[in-house]
This record gives sequence, C-alpha cells and structure tokens, in this order.
Amino acid sequence: MVVNLVIGTQWGDEGKGKVVDYFSKDAYYVVRFQGGNNAGHTIKVGKEVYILHIIPSGVIQGKIGLIGNGVVIDPEILISEIDQLTKKGIKPKILISDRANIIMPYHKILDGAEENLLGNRKIGTTKRGIGPCYSDKIARKGIRAIDLIDKASLSEKLDNIIPIKQKILEIYNIKEKLNKKKILEKYLYYGAFLKKYIASTHIELNNAIKSGKNILLEGAQGTMLDVDYGTYPYTTSSHTIAGGSVIGAGVSPKHFNEIIGIVKAYTTRVGEGPLPTELFDKNGKYLQEKGHEFGTTTSRPRRCGWLDLVVVNHSCMISGVTKLAITKLDVLDGLDEVKICINYNLNGKKIDYFPSKIEDVEKCKPIYKKLKGWKKIDKKSSRFSDLPKEAQDYLKFIEKEVRVPISIVSIGPGRKETIEL
Ligand code: IMP
Repeated sequence: MVVNLVIGTQWGDEGKGKVVDYFSKDAYYVVRFQGGNNAGHTIKVGKEVYILHIIPSGVIQGKIGLIGNGVVIDPEILISEIDQLTKKGIKPKILISDRANIIMPYHKILDGAEENLLGNRKIGTTKRGIGPCYSDKIARKGIRAIDLIDKASLSEKLDNIIPIKQKILEIYNIKEKLNKKKILEKYLYYGAFLKKYIASTHIELNNAIKSGKNILLEGAQGTMLDVDYGTYPYTTSSHTIAGGSVIGAGVSPKHFNEIIGIVKAYTTRVGEGPLPTELFDKNGKYLQEKGHEFGTTTSRPRRCGWLDLVVVNHSCMISGVTKLAITKLDVLDGLDEVKICINYNLNGKKIDYFPSKIEDVEKCKPIYKKLKGWKKIDKKSSRFSDLPKEAQDYLKFIEKEVRVPISIVSIGPGRKETIEL
C-alpha cells in the first residue's frame, strides 16, 4: 500500500494536472480533498487536451476519482464535466463524499457582490462561489451532497437558509429574488443524477488502504493560497497544504509515503495580492507568453516572476515535502540569465522566512542568485545528463537550497516530455 500526495508549492497553476497524471499510474483512487471548480487542471494525452475543474485528473488514466468531504462542489459543473468526458470516450469512474458541501446559486451571487464592494482591496477570486460556500460550511449553514438526495431534508434546509440569504442580497443592493421552489427542483435533479456516485468516501478510502491499494491525493491551488499559510487575505478559502488532505479526505497522516511538492521553474499568480518576485519587464512578458500563462478557469493573464525559493522552502516545511517535481523548465529556454530568489530584504534586514503580516510581504524585496541561462532543451531529453549544462546547474541549485531531492522534471506538456531522476 502506498499513499502519495501531490501539492502545489507556489500560487497554484504549477502544472499539477500533468504530475498527478504521471503519479497516478499505480493508484487505485485519485483523491481531491479541497477547493472546487476554482481549480483547473490541464492534461495532454497525445493530441487530446482535457481540462478538468472538479473531477480528479487521474480519471483520464482510468482511475477512480474520489471527491472528498473537503471539496466544495458545484453540481452543474460536475455534471457537465462527466458529460464532456463521456463524449470524449472516457466514462469517468467517480465517487463523491456525502459530506462534501454544495455550491448554491446564492454563493455565486455573493462571491461577485463581496468582490465588487471590496473595490481595489478585492481578492480577485474566481467568482465561483468558493469563499461563500466554505463560509457557510464553517457557520454550519451548508447544504451537503447527502442532502441532494433527500427531498424533505433539502426543502427544510432551504426554508431556513433562503430568507437569510435574501436579506443579505438586499444589503448588497442586489434585486435578484431567490426562488426556493426552483432551487429545490434544480438541486433535486442534480441529486438524482449524482446519486449513484455519492458515498461515504472516507470509509471507502480507509478500506482501500487497509486492503493494500495505492492512493494518490491530489491537491488543488498551492500553498501560498492556503487560508492559513498563504498570503492571507489574498488566498482561497481551503487548506491547500498536505494537512488539508487529512481533514478533507479523512486519511490519517500515519499512512503517508511520499509528499510531492510541485515547483514551477518560475513563479506565477492570478488574482490580487503580493508576489515578491513579480517581473514587470520584458522577462515577465516572455514567461507569460512562452508559458501560456493564462488562467485555465478564468482566462485571466497570470502575473509572472522569477522562481522564489523563500516561498518553496516555506511550502516544503509546512507540508513536509519529500520529493520535488519541477515543471515548465523549458519555458526558461532562450534567456541569457535566469534569477532565483533566495532571501528577502525586509526593512533593510535579510530574512529567510515568509512573513505572516501581509503589509510586510508587500515590503519584501527579493535577493537573487544569478545563474547563466541556456539556449534550448531538447524535447526528446530523457535523462538529466541530456539537459544543457546550465539547466542542470539550475536544478542542482534548487536541490541544494531546498534540501529536498528532485524526482521528476517536466520539459513540455506531453506525457513523454518528462525526465525521471
Ligand atoms: P477563490 O478560490 O475563487 O476564492 O479565489 C481566491 C484566490 O485564489 C484568487 O486570487 C484566485 O485567483 C486564486 N485561485 C483560486 N483557485 C486557483 C487555482 O486553481 N490556481 C490559481 N489561483 C487560484
């Protein structure tokens, strides 16, 4: 039995889809444990490109995708993903936790309304209703997957919640009327469609572990978007770190084998909030264009910067990362010089940790190590020694600074463009 976990060490979009696809070869279950359809994972197999927001990427490999209790589910999106995959010839095998919270129409309306009111202090959310849904979960006003298949229970819960939400909408000056009957009908329809997938996934998962099956836990977003360890308040509303899986899937940490931290060879972020190594020059544009850095979920351009090892070290420490997967190394091709941030200068003092106070993060100036760039990585490279010497030095420098071994390096979107170390 092997339980592996894959998490993002930066601000999401590290290329998790491909890495999860790679590590899910031997897995029985591939498990999402947090987030919702704010995530977007791209998997390229041959000529076919799959973009998944909620279904675990491992289903492309024919694995069973398990959506844990820590995930917030928009049933409309989930059903459309099931349909899309089915049309492409993949009948997705999935299980949905009966305890997972459901994104309701008012969550989506409120996500937009709150962002509008915040003005230039907005978070830059994906407006998918993620934050409002998690807020209701913690406030114990949530609708869970199990409620979708129990008319009486769902009806009673909506009777309690809808008047409150209607009042909140009025405070936000939103005229929209929440129609309980229509919402009830629509969500019961979703429930009827999804019924065959809804299960006590924590029990399924622990039974699978007991019987020696392999499990891959698939994180969404990245550590710097974690609600506690990220750049709060410019974060998402869930726990994107390794510990998030313990709660969000119901698996004990005693079972963990490898914790794989994905590190994109440079840094990106979508939405608002500080990004210490952000580039506003031609190099930033170069990374954005060459790396196709536009959001999978919202199509927003991603802000780009040099690799930040203060961030990566912070993430590896919090999650106890045991292996690194470096992605998009090829995007750095063609640069004369590449830089890696190793410390910050905060108010004239050199620091090696990520500050907790957002105002301090905003003041941090990166301290860089400069390295020589390389011309072009041969896409057919299959060994470390096939890489240009400067690219090897870049990777060796990361390993030395982070003190975690690199296990795979991705040099292109295709499955084969991967070097195992
Ligand atoms: P929310 O998760 O929609 O509430 O958005 C909160 C912040 O997290 C915003 O800055 C989003 O752009 C960011 N975010 C959410 N999901 C992702 C993701 O999958 N990749 C990158 N950023 C994300």
